Amino acid sequence: MLREVTATRYITSLREGGSLPGLVEADDLGTYVMKFTGAGQGRKTLVAEVVCGELARRLGLRVPGLVAIGLDPVIGLGEPDQEVQELLKSSGGLNLGMDFLSRAIGFDSLAHRVSPEEAGKVVWFDALVNNVDRSWRNPNMLVRGGDLWLIDHGATMIWHHNWPGARASAAKPYDASDHALAPFGPDIRAAAEELGPRVTEELLADVVAAIPEEWLRDEPGFDSPDALRRAYAEPLLARAATVHERIRIQDRNQGRDQGRDQGRDQGRIQKGAS
Ligand SMILES: Nc1ncnc2c1ncn2[C@@H]1O[C@H](COP(=O)(O)OP(=O)(O)O)[C@@H](O)[C@H]1O
Ligand SMILES: [Mg+2]
Repeated sequence: MLREVTATRYITSLREGGSLPGLVEADDLGTYVMKFTGAGQGRKTLVAEVVCGELARRLGLRVPGLVAIGLDPVIGLGEPDQEVQELLKSSGGLNLGMDFLSRAIGFDSLAHRVSPEEAGKVVWFDALVNNVDRSWRNPNMLVRGGDLWLIDHGATMIWHHNWPGARASAAKPYDASDHALAPFGPDIRAAAEELGPRVTEELLADVVAAIPEEWLRDEPGFDSPDALRRAYAEPLLARAATVHERIRIQDRNQGRDQGRDQGRDQGRIQKGAS
């Protein structure tokens, strides 16, 4: 199980994120980025964060520490923003917290260098969990002191939205052409050789044990939280051995650079207009 803390103060929302994560203080004096059960896809997003975060950490990738945060919506009563009020009201109970990385900046492929070895590990890991949210448009990586940190694993394991089709879905290829680290020559073979054998049944049992039980209750087709835990582990175990053979990276450098330039021009135009 994740360590449990209780939120004591809502500080602010992190507006750059689509799901409106918040910055909160907790009773252990920690500051956490909080993701709410009441947001968008709700608790499945949080389950995905736990499975991927705990798995990545065990494979030696850098991810912020995770906690379960108890929320009494009363702490949001003074919050002037209606949207945030609603979110807090609908998120009583356990939510997800991750260590806030102060002074971290967003990854930018033009400003930061990543070795083929590290890029390979991240792309391989993203293929394993079927992460569709680490593109050059939206890298979901932070950099601090030259180190790369992985965040935002909510849009992974698409099969958990349709369990009966999970096996077929998990057998599909992974297209990494738009991956934020595709331009760094990711050494996927080396990553697969090193990390693949480490994804064992025991390791995955440990990972899924960390999911708070209240996010696993009442899933149609499963008679217990533990049965659902096993369902999370199974496709990952199956993929670990061979997913590297199904990773596709098409060279889209040209389109990517054009896209970026257009984005920049757009930014200049907007700045000039305001
Ligand atoms: N652990 C963290 N430490 C510091 N900043 C973070 C952390 N997690 C998220 N952020 C900031 O909040 C933003 C939104 O978080 P993210 O997990 O990407 O949420 P969303 O699902 O809404 O995209 C990130 O782009 C980043 O700027
Ligand atoms: Mg994000």
